Amino acid sequence: MSQSQPETACIQTETHGRVGLIRLDRPKQLNALNDALMDQLGDALLMFDRNPDIGAIVLTGSARAFAAGADIAAMSDYDFVDAYGNDFITRNWETITRIRKPIIAAVEGVALGGGCELAMMCDLIIAADSARFAQPEIKLGIMPGAGGTQRLPRAVGKAKAMDWMLTGRLIDAHEAERAGLVSRVVPAEETLPTALQVAAEIAAMPLMAVIALKESVQRAFEAPLAEGLRFERRLFHGLFATEDQKEGMRAFLEKRPASFKHR
Ligand code: HXC
Repeated sequence: MSQSQPETACIQTETHGRVGLIRLDRPKQLNALNDALMDQLGDALLMFDRNPDIGAIVLTGSARAFAAGADIAAMSDYDFVDAYGNDFITRNWETITRIRKPIIAAVEGVALGGGCELAMMCDLIIAADSARFAQPEIKLGIMPGAGGTQRLPRAVGKAKAMDWMLTGRLIDAHEAERAGLVSRVVPAEETLPTALQVAAEIAAMPLMAVIALKESVQRAFEAPLAEGLRFERRLFHGLFATEDQKEGMRAFLEKRPASFKHR
């Protein structure tokens, strides 16, 4: 494992083999997401995405909070120019949507408002049995603004998304799993180890196939079925040009483990 921390760090980064780990680290504010944190998060994600020795990324917070939402103290005095003129959210939060390698959210404690939206921007969510999710923006006189009204209905369906967003109520980890928001619920102390293990498994897979698969699944939410299927087919065809496809299939036929080069 290697570690690095930027000055006035709101995040910490580590590498665990081919996995990049990012920890949100504003403990006094329960990891409330301000500009400094989101800038640093974007930089760290881009750094791991560019690093050829990294195959997957884990994003986590603390035992108490993945993130308690956008920073209300920072937002409370915003006017239209601060929000619209400065391109609030789009400017830095959306960096995560440009990351091509899989990102796993390891959620312990609360993931509220923008914290829940940040988890939903990841590719899958592994939740502690202690995790609590909510979109409580309505109680602050606003609405979800970092993708919640679009990603939550896609994850859990319209009825549940409306219920959760219009009431702002807390959803426990098991309800979130039943609804399809999270992929696995594990005992709290196993959350990060499980996420790191899943990420290591993914990072050992042939990288070209991994990023093509992620890109194709993302299309499922953006394109009509026929276009998504065409997109999938082209990427599928393209993978026959990779060394790892030859190695993966040859290894199967020779009854030996594959040795992928991520090429
Ligand atoms: C800024 C926050 C914060 C937030 C907590 N804190 N959430 N600061 N922004 N979102 C701060 C508190 O002010 C407090 O600071 C410290 O963290 C500890 O919080 P407490 O409330 O004292 O802890 P507790 O009683 O355990 O309650 C925890 C909590 C509660 C249930 C998570 O803090 C809470 O409800 N937070 C707000 C959740 C929320 O509404 N999130 C949505 C934000 S809007 P001090 O200095 O007093 O110790 C949003 C918009 C998204 O996310 C749309 C676009 C991004």
